[in-house]
Amino acid sequence: MTASPTPDPAAPNPHASAEQVQAAYSDTKLAQVLYHDWEAATYDEKWSISYDERCNSYARGRFDAVVGGDAEVPYGRALELGCGTGFFLLNLMLTGVATTGSVTDLSPGMVEVALRNAEGLGLDVDGRVADAETIPYEDDSFDLVVGHAVLHHIPDVQKTLAEVLRVLRPGGRFVFAGEPTTIGDRYARLLGRTTWELTTRATKLPALASWRRPQAELDESSRAAALEAVVDIHTFDPEALERTALAAGAIDVRAATEELAAAFLGWPVRTFEAAVPAGKLGFGWARFAFGGWKKLSRLDEAVLSKVVPRKFFYNVMITGVKPPAPVSL
Ligand SMILES: C[S@@+](CC[C@H](N)C(=O)[O-])C[C@H]1O[C@@H](n2cnc3c(N)ncnc32)[C@H](O)[C@@H]1O
Repeated sequence: MTASPTPDPAAPNPHASAEQVQAAYSDTKLAQVLYHDWEAATYDEKWSISYDERCNSYARGRFDAVVGGDAEVPYGRALELGCGTGFFLLNLMLTGVATTGSVTDLSPGMVEVALRNAEGLGLDVDGRVADAETIPYEDDSFDLVVGHAVLHHIPDVQKTLAEVLRVLRPGGRFVFAGEPTTIGDRYARLLGRTTWELTTRATKLPALASWRRPQAELDESSRAAALEAVVDIHTFDPEALERTALAAGAIDVRAATEELAAAFLGWPVRTFEAAVPAGKLGFGWARFAFGGWKKLSRLDEAVLSKVVPRKFFYNVMITGVKPPAPVSL
């Protein structure tokens, strides 16, 4: 049976047909669903996502870094857009940021995994397949809306933020983290491409044959990278992102950035890990990678953020508030 180029919007589709992949090159939302449905089952492993102290403190750290002392935790009802496997909201809930949650994503496969993760953690969470540009919830439904690494996938960011403000109650807050800055994305791609080229060329040498991934797997990674170029739509200048949030109607808008030295280590490390066979790098490597990233993140925070303009850092986060309801006389 030939699969239709348009997948059933409610069902996960981890094995896209060649016809669907072709159609996705000119349809960004179809590309999002195919790419992320395909990634859903292995996403937590690929990005080392867990729901323990390490990721609890990472998620909470991003939230606190941009919201600072203005947080009103615990928020009652929180919504996540582009939840993926639930990394951001579930980890935030585990640190007491919100009591109940709703996870949403364009990819049915991702919503399925996020709900399974939430259930395993005993969290009070429901979920829906939803496009962030047209959020299927009533006005004033949530106290907090969050997202991580999602805004750069959405065609109309201002429309999305206006939708976020519609579903927030007056005074409610949004927090989006993990978005690429325009300058950061340039050096990250260059570092990634260079590391990939060097590693895949070096592992062609007979002496390094055991470090070479099978050609079929390398080819699949290259095809995924091509689709990645279709799903990654935006990069952000922090000031321009603030202007977009203000134009959507938010108040108390603030963008913050992080990771400069840490990104110069993180991107080559992640690319190298993807270019060699799984299992080749042991615990010592994992300790070096995570420990090194943490040390350089501290350097970024304590020193570089004081002297380097924010647009040079890799990650941008943004927060804002829905204006209070007008008082009726
Ligand atoms: C890079 S992943 C991030 C997932 C998760 N937030 C995380 O940080 O691990 C981006 C997610 O956004 C979703 N997405 C892309 N476009 C979307 C849209 N228009 N509306 C809702 N979700 C979308 C994708 O399906 C994917 O799960």
